[in-house]
Amino acid sequence: MEAKTPSESQAILTDLVLPSETNPLNNLFGGELLARMDRAASIAARRHSRRIVVTASVNHVAFNRAIPLGSVVTVEAKVSRAFTSSMEIFIDVWTEDRESGARTKANEAIYTFVAVDETGRPIAIPPIKPETDLEKERYEAALRRKQLSLVLAGKMKPEDATELKALFA
Ligand SMILES: CC(C)(COP(=O)(O)OP(=O)(O)OC[C@H]1O[C@@H](n2cnc3c(N)ncnc32)[C@H](O)[C@@H]1OP(=O)(O)O)[C@@H](O)C(=O)NCCC(=O)NCCS
Repeated sequence: MEAKTPSESQAILTDLVLPSETNPLNNLFGGELLARMDRAASIAARRHSRRIVVTASVNHVAFNRAIPLGSVVTVEAKVSRAFTSSMEIFIDVWTEDRESGARTKANEAIYTFVAVDETGRPIAIPPIKPETDLEKERYEAALRRKQLSLVLAGKMKPEDATELKALFA
């Protein structure tokens, strides 16, 4: 299969924060943001693989900044690395100032999606070729994160997580 670039998978969702989507402090409810990130990530995974995709894992979420009611929120998702059937997706969340339009990074997350056939069995996907410095950095670290996720899920023995162990050597 021919390699694709991360930008070919890019998915951007922009939407408002409405009253029904907030917590008692009038900020965006965390679960609502997780759902928006999951939707954007699933579109990115689908664009890369052109297959049915399912969320396998939420590897990392950082709710660094609260997002107030009425904000315009943009969720940008891109495949950072493709393995055999699984893909790591990086998600960056931005808010924009009403008057200046300036964007502020609010949150980020990393999800893993798996491409599957019609019966739900994992299926091979195209490789990915990072282009920018940031894409290369995310690509390089993705194997460590995959191994950590598999170890935490009980699907890999810690002693087999060679990339992860190399971090602490
Ligand atoms: C995700 C799923 C397809 C994996 O199936 P599986 O039988 O475990 O298949 P495998 O063990 O062969 O794993 C398939 C790939 O997923 C990766 N994977 C599985 N669990 C993972 C995890 N927790 N973290 C990171 N990668 C994971 C494997 O490493 C493998 O990657 P590779 O093929 O690129 O090397 C299966 O568990 C599933 O269908 N889960 C439910 C998905 C779903 O419904 N999501 C929505 C939540 S409601």
